[in-house]
Parts: sequence; C-alpha cells; structure tokens
Amino acid sequence: MQKQLEILNRKIEEAKAGGGQKRIDAQHAKRKLTARERIHFFLDDNSFEEIGMLVQHRCTDFDMQSQQYLGDGVVTGYGTVNGRLVFVFAQDFTVFGGSLSETHAEKICKIMELAMNNGAPVIGLNDSGGARIQEGVQSLGGYADIFYRNTLASGVVPQISAIMGPCAGGAVYSPAITDFTIMVENSSYMFVTGPNVVKTVTNETVTSEELGGAATHFSKSGVTHLIASNDLDCIYKLKQLLSYIPQNCEDKAPDLPYTVGEEYCEDLHHLIPASPNQPYDMREVIQQIVDEASFFEIQEQYAENIVVGFARLAGKSIGIVANQPASLAGVLDVNASRKGARFVRFCDCFNIPLLVLEDVPGFLPGTDQEWNGIITNGAKLLYAFCEATVPRITVITRKAYGGAYDVMNSKHIGADMNYAWPTAEIAVMGAKGAAEIIFKREIDAAADPAAKLAEKEAEYNANFANPYKAAARGFIDEVIHPRETRRKLIKAFAMLENKSRKLPKKKHGNIPL
Ligand code: HXC
Repeated sequence: MQKQLEILNRKIEEAKAGGGQKRIDAQHAKRKLTARERIHFFLDDNSFEEIGMLVQHRCTDFDMQSQQYLGDGVVTGYGTVNGRLVFVFAQDFTVFGGSLSETHAEKICKIMELAMNNGAPVIGLNDSGGARIQEGVQSLGGYADIFYRNTLASGVVPQISAIMGPCAGGAVYSPAITDFTIMVENSSYMFVTGPNVVKTVTNETVTSEELGGAATHFSKSGVTHLIASNDLDCIYKLKQLLSYIPQNCEDKAPDLPYTVGEEYCEDLHHLIPASPNQPYDMREVIQQIVDEASFFEIQEQYAENIVVGFARLAGKSIGIVANQPASLAGVLDVNASRKGARFVRFCDCFNIPLLVLEDVPGFLPGTDQEWNGIITNGAKLLYAFCEATVPRITVITRKAYGGAYDVMNSKHIGADMNYAWPTAEIAVMGAKGAAEIIFKREIDAAADPAAKLAEKEAEYNANFANPYKAAARGFIDEVIHPRETRRKLIKAFAMLENKSRKLPKKKHGNIPL
C-alpha cells in the first residue's frame, strides 16, 4: 500500500507538472475532461474494462431512432485504483447532454449490482442534463432504479459521487444517498429546482452558481463533502478518499506499514490556553496526534464547530470527530450534530475505528436552534454513537459539559476507552451558571453579591473543573499528560483491533431522522 501511494503521489506530481505516463498536459487542469479522460486519469494504467460499450437507447419518439450513439451517454465498467478493484460510471455530456435514458440507467444499475455482489466501491462521475426529456417516464423509472440500488448498496459497499457538471432535478438524489459527494468548483452545480423556477415561485433572483455551486454546497448546505478546483484535482481527491476506506462492509481499510517508536508529542502540552474561555484550533491537536500529513478533512467549511475526517494512526485508518473551540466555542448545534452523525455512521458501516476529541461547552441555546429541531438533530449524533460497534476512543481535552458530555462518545454510551487531559472540566454546566443557580439564596443575601458569586464560582470550579471526579467513578479510564496522547491511542487502538460487539437482533433501528 505504501508503494502504491508513493506511485500515486508521483503520478499526481507528474500530473501537476504536466507530464508523466498518463500524458497530462497543462490544458487538462484548465478544462472539463471528457468522460473517457476522467476514467483514464482515475484508474490505474491499462486496468479499465468497459461494460456495455455497444448499448443503444430504445426511444423512437421525436425521431430519436436516427440519433444513436454507442454507449448511450455513459461509460461504465471496472478497473483498479492503486491496485484495488472499483466500479465506475462516467456520464458523457457530449451525448444528449449526458441525459439519463432507460438504457443509460440500466448500464449504471448493472455496475452497481456487480459492485455489490463483488464487494467493491462504486464511483459515479456525474455530468448530466438530467432525465432524457424525449423518453419521459422511462427515464424517470431509470432514476428510480438507480436510487433503489443506491439504497440497497448503502452500507454494503462505499459509494462516492463526483459532480463534474450539471446535476439537477431528481437526479440529485442519487448522490445524496451515496456516502460522499465531491463537486468541481465553477463547473458543477446541484439543485432540485433551477434559477428559473426559483424566480417564478419565490421571486428570488439567483445564479446557478449561487443556488447550487460547489462553494454553496460546501459551506452553506453541507450537501457536498469535498470540493475540487478542477477535474484533475477532483480525481486526485477521489483517490485520496478511497485510500482511507475499505472495499466493503466486511473488509478493513488498508494499513500503511508503520514501526511504533516512542511516540511522545511534546508540543501538545502547550496547545491549551491558560484561560478556559480562550479558543484554540483543534486541527492543531489532530495534526499532532495523527501520522504526519495524514488528516483528510470532510465537510471542512460546513458546521465548522465540529471537525470530521479521516487520518492514519500508526499507519491505520481512523475516523476523527472533534469539537472545534475556534468556531462558536465548539458548541454542538443542529448542523454540527447532523454532520457528526453522518460521519460516525459511515465509519461504523465500514469498520473504521473512531477517535473523538472533546472540548464542548454544551448544546447551543436559542429559538433558532430549538425551532430547527436541536432536540431531534442532537439525538442523531447521540444515536449514531450509541449504535456504533467499531472501536471508539475519546480524549477530553478541556470542556465536557452537560448533555454534550454524554453525547460525545462517553463511556456510558459504549465508548471503549476514555482519556482526559488534566485540563479537562467535566460537569453539568459552566461554573458561573451553576453557582448562580445553586447558591442563589446565599448570593442574594450577601452584602457584596458579586464577590459572593465569584467565591462560589471558584468553589464550584475547584470541585468540578477537573477530570478527577469522573476518573474516580471510572467514567474516565485514565488522566493522561497531553504529550502521551498519541502513544496511548496507538496502544489502545491496537488493543481494540479485534473488538467484536453485536447489537440486539432487529430489522433496523429507527434513528431520529
Ligand atoms: C435530452 C438534453 C437534456 C435532457 C441537455 N440535452 N439536457 N437532451 N434530455 N435532459 C441536450 C441538449 O438538447 C443539447 O443537444 C445538448 O444536450 C447540450 O445541451 P445544451 O443546452 O446545449 O448545453 P448547456 O448550454 O451547457 O446547458 C446544459 C443544461 C441544459 C443546463 C443541462 O441543457 C438544460 O437545462 N437541460 C435540461 C435540464 C432539465 O431540465 N432536465 C430535466 C430535469 S428533471 P444538442 O443536440 O443541441 O447538442 C429531471 C427529473 C429527474 O431530471 C427525476 C428523477 C426522479
């Protein structure tokens, strides 16, 4: 795997430099690639085997029988990426705008079924004007056939959608069901109804890019997990993503060779600011803990108060869910809960161990949050953790307050190992709020209420703003020095390597969607 990644990186460098075996020139980075070029750059050399090249549409309306193109607007088949089998389809915009006919859909369904039966990921390179208008209901049925298979394949094999052109109308629901979506900046868009309909219905004036471009979905809606600056960058990111994930739900993600050394990281000791209210960047904690340059962030610009992504720890793939004190103090809100929950469930589906880094002051208060269902949405994150059976470890770096303590992979909901740094504060709520409630009478009666509040706050802090009460109950397995974090995690994940836990027998649970 190490060797394969080296080869990949060399190819990418060659691609960026405009040369190499694949004969990439500077123009490839500037323009939209064709469907075949996309497949060519995505798959290992000479590995592509095409399926259904001679398929033709069956439409006879609108003189369509006179317009036949072999393959019917989608290139489908299988090949390898860094030596691992993948199934791929690439829509060809040059044939009826990449629009989806009955036969076009059949080709996609065929490789989805092969992927499911043979335990390998499906990657869709989408570039389509939507349902083939000339075909009517046959093409709508074709979409539904795909959605159905997307759903059956969910949790069986990884499914990734690259949006490399238009993706509009009901067509968006296939990428939405898949595990990850990546969009190319300035050349792709996704929306259920386009700008013209929006203008008619709501009188809003909006461009395609504003409504459903890559930047919009990366920062505002969270619909896309990754963005790419051009087609080549998109293909590079697809390969990177694949390197962290297994082939199917019964497989494990590939390891990179690693020899464990001393593994102390001194710099972690200085990351937490002296004042508990001062922010710091949790990404710096992540960078220090994981293997060098291995953090691959997902949904980076959406709900930035929670950070999720893949990384390697001693060569092994892990998923990270971390509160981000540098954004909204790391509070959990509707969007952060949904983002975290979806990521936890992906990792659990595909046997990727979870590391949680916790510094959370609680759930965000306010009418906006309550009216938008923080109760149900917060419960999604809670449910996702409760149900996850992969190895799960938490490190509390600072705050673990209120319900958020429970939700963020606490021991009580099935985490395997819970560590806390000495700077951890584990309590029902912050000291000021707590003192104001429980010492209200004393404070009101005092000659100097402000001084009394400060005194009681200090008393509360001395009692609870530490990890030792939780450790005394066994809710924290060990209070560790920050410099030891990486070492402890490597050992603990190795100890959990063969973890086996089964959920009670059921058809399926009922996550609060
Ligand atoms: C048939 C289509 C087509 C379609 C484009 N073409 N979309 N043919 N069915 N859905 C053809 C065009 O006629 C044209 O053919 C060629 O593809 C390129 O299209 P252009 O319009 O010239 O390209 P461009 O200017 O880049 O615009 C691309 C576009 C636009 C924005 C995608 O074509 C467009 O708006 N298409 C219709 C989109 C749409 O409404 N689709 C249905 C959505 S509803 P020639 O021969 O001139 O080269 C839907 C429902 C799915 O998809 C429901 C699932 C549940």
